Amino acid sequence: MSLEAIGVSHSYQSTKVFRDVNLVVEEGQSVALMGPSGSGKTTLLSILGFLTTPSEGAVVLDQGSATQPQDSSEMRSSPPLPSSFGWVFQSMNSLKYRTALDNVSLPLLAMGYDRSTAGLVAESTLDKVGLRGLGTALAHTLSGGELQRVCVARALVSKPRILLADEPTGHLDRTNTGVVLDAIWALKDDGTAVVIATHDPEVALRCERRFRLTEGKVIQE
Ligand SMILES: Nc1ncnc2c1ncn2[C@@H]1O[C@H](COP(=O)(O)OP(=O)(O)O)[C@@H](O)[C@H]1O
Ligand SMILES: [Mg+2]
Repeated sequence: MSLEAIGVSHSYQSTKVFRDVNLVVEEGQSVALMGPSGSGKTTLLSILGFLTTPSEGAVVLDQGSATQPQDSSEMRSSPPLPSSFGWVFQSMNSLKYRTALDNVSLPLLAMGYDRSTAGLVAESTLDKVGLRGLGTALAHTLSGGELQRVCVARALVSKPRILLADEPTGHLDRTNTGVVLDAIWALKDDGTAVVIATHDPEVALRCERRFRLTEGKVIQE
């Protein structure tokens, strides 16, 4: 597995975000994206995950088996497979009136798991992020830190080949940051490539490589 950004630049209308980003992430590797708010971390993750088409350049999965589609209709009908990517969105989207367990089961149901197997796997993933016993709680009743861990569990539950996590510990204390990192690193040890946007030095230091986004450039530290 490899995910590669080749000469990627992006602008929103007249706002230039960054230019000429070159970055490769291979199986089992970890990369941190750092930089001030507004520097383009979320934009770069969204380009790496094929959700945003870059203004220039390309993203290549597995050395060309799936390249950046040219238009959105093509994007909908072409690879990557849904289980290739696990996402932790910065906005912590959830189904607010469904339980934590339902939220975490969802990716497995979409992959064709039966409900009872999906429930068991989701429950064990909730355990791994320190949420044992909270499976029956409705998402809208959870604290910010609990909801963030539900979102992490939902990203990990399908054992994606690539995890793209946008400030996944932003609402967590030290202890739970460690718990979440351990859960992510358990997947990484099994070969998942991990890309994390973060402001937290503890998270960045745990990654093998760190890239800093600043003044339109992305520089490896
Ligand atoms: N959909 C959008 N339309 C226009 N501008 C955007 C959009 N998304 C982000 N931006 C702008 O692009 C820049 C980078 O944003 P973002 O990638 O969210 O940065 P970060 O995640 O590092 O805070 C910011 O100036 C932001 O205002
Ligand atoms: Mg962001």
